[in-house]
Amino acid sequence: MASPMKNLLTDPARYLQAFRLFLAKSTEHQSMQEFVERQLPAVIDSIGNGKSTINILSIGGGSGEIDLLIISKVQARYPGVTINNEVVEPSADQISKYKERVAKTSNLENVKFTWHEETAYEFESRMNAEKKPKKWDFIHMIQVLYYVKDIPATVRYFHSLLETQAKLLIILVSGTSGWETLWKKYGSSFPLGDLCCYVSSADMKKILDSVGLKHQLHDVPSHMDITSCFIEGDKDGELLLDFLTETYEFSKTAPPELKRQVMEELRKPQCSEERDGKVVFNNNLGVIVVEP
Ligand SMILES: C[S@@+](CC[C@H](N)C(=O)[O-])C[C@H]1O[C@@H](n2cnc3c(N)ncnc32)[C@H](O)[C@@H]1O
Repeated sequence: MASPMKNLLTDPARYLQAFRLFLAKSTEHQSMQEFVERQLPAVIDSIGNGKSTINILSIGGGSGEIDLLIISKVQARYPGVTINNEVVEPSADQISKYKERVAKTSNLENVKFTWHEETAYEFESRMNAEKKPKKWDFIHMIQVLYYVKDIPATVRYFHSLLETQAKLLIILVSGTSGWETLWKKYGSSFPLGDLCCYVSSADMKKILDSVGLKHQLHDVPSHMDITSCFIEGDKDGELLLDFLTETYEFSKTAPPELKRQVMEELRKPQCSEERDGKVVFNNNLGVIVVEP
């Protein structure tokens, strides 16, 4: 009998392998880079006015690739100002990759890095226990809110830590992406456990409206080549399918009918388009800037 489906995060090494393959097969980071180049300067324009130190908090900073791009924009806007960049990241492996990246990046003399190997919730509990709330000039949560238990409470908590001119940046898959189509239809069949949940920028907008937090939402185009998912036995294809469904060894453990339906769905125009013989999945990102 096939083993029951389990969440991909139950195997952190396979999750990381799948996430890195996703980055290689998608324009995820290129799209974020474009956002950082074109739109972030306006977002951070006044966060450091009158400050000698700018405090940045990165939630789920991963291996730091996007964090360092963000820091470079803050440096460009506020040359010579000290930046205190703290990272809340539960994966030791990601933190060690982040440290390696910092070590080989130049122009970071005025940036102090601190890594906290913990989840967003552990950070919140630690801060509450220490009873000395620290305020931040910029907080970002990039592709991470899927992994917190209570999204409205987490967003409200981090929003409460913003300085008066600060901003909170949230990036999630967009409500216009193939993720939305796939997950709204099949999410309840995937083994989420209490490790992660599906949330898009459209859901996030509703949450922010309901708690009365002022924000702007932008859609950033992005795509992912999922052609290998349709090649039976292809190792990359299997890993990408795991990432798409958040399921450990989806190809081997999903009931055949679910697998058939998911494969069919992934080819449909609401999820993907055919381009030059490739199946290109809509990986659009939703970027949300929350005001203090
Ligand atoms: C999809 S990756 C995104 C990494 C990075 N922000 C990026 O966009 O490239 C999600 C990251 O969140 C981290 N993470 C998972 N659960 C978390 C939690 N509860 N609190 C904070 N970070 C978490 C993971 O270890 C991982 O590095």
